[in-house]
Amino acid sequence: MSVASHLGIRTDEYDQQILTFIPFYDEILNAAATALDALERPAKVVLDLGTGSGALAARCLSRLKGARVVGIDGDPAMLGMAEQRLGKALRPVVGNFESTPFPACDVVSASFSLHHVASPAVKQRIFRKAFAALRPGGMLVDADCMLAASPRLRARHHALWRDHLAATHGAAGAKKFLRAWAGEDTYFPIDVETALLRKAGFAVDVAWRRASFAVVAAVKPRD
Ligand SMILES: C[S@@+](CC[C@H](N)C(=O)[O-])C[C@H]1O[C@@H](n2cnc3c(N)ncnc32)[C@H](O)[C@@H]1O
Repeated sequence: MSVASHLGIRTDEYDQQILTFIPFYDEILNAAATALDALERPAKVVLDLGTGSGALAARCLSRLKGARVVGIDGDPAMLGMAEQRLGKALRPVVGNFESTPFPACDVVSASFSLHHVASPAVKQRIFRKAFAALRPGGMLVDADCMLAASPRLRARHHALWRDHLAATHGAAGAKKFLRAWAGEDTYFPIDVETALLRKAGFAVDVAWRRASFAVVAAVKPRD
């Protein structure tokens, strides 16, 4: 499915509209890129899953001088925008990150793309594939909505997201978006996300969290 039809927008509107859809969007992506400062060694290759228009990839490159990005995305129109943004630093790969082989890399990054994976078993396979592709000491950063354990906290976080949407799209618009996304996207509790990463072999930290949004930084141990 194309991003435009999933979000009900034109592809060229994505960078503006995503700010109205996701609270703290810039802050989240900046936090994901900043987590890479903890890498032990200079990174040469970033593998970005669900690159979209390249917003996270661009931030990663700004912190990793001389690195290049392999960007996997199923939507060629979105990858076209990323190519415009990143030029020769990007090797675009049109494909499904569930089935596309991962190249050897120093960083695996993802923002708001892994919530398209509905099954924990498939997510586990993706994390294992990322672990195998990463060099020892390499890092996976994932920025997304990851749910709280407490139902009352979850309800508050949901209300915050609804209010953020309503500020631009009105109460009815907010309801419509949340209902549509609930049918297409899957948000796991943050404990499930971190457990899947640990099971794949990673040492896991929550690098940033606000309401239901989080950046998880997972390092492949050296031995
Ligand atoms: C909401 S956008 C996020 C884009 C960008 N990472 C950002 O933070 O703005 C999700 C992206 O993931 C891509 N995507 C979703 N599921 C995918 C899959 N299974 N394989 C490849 N790309 C996928 C979509 O095409 C889309 O470009």
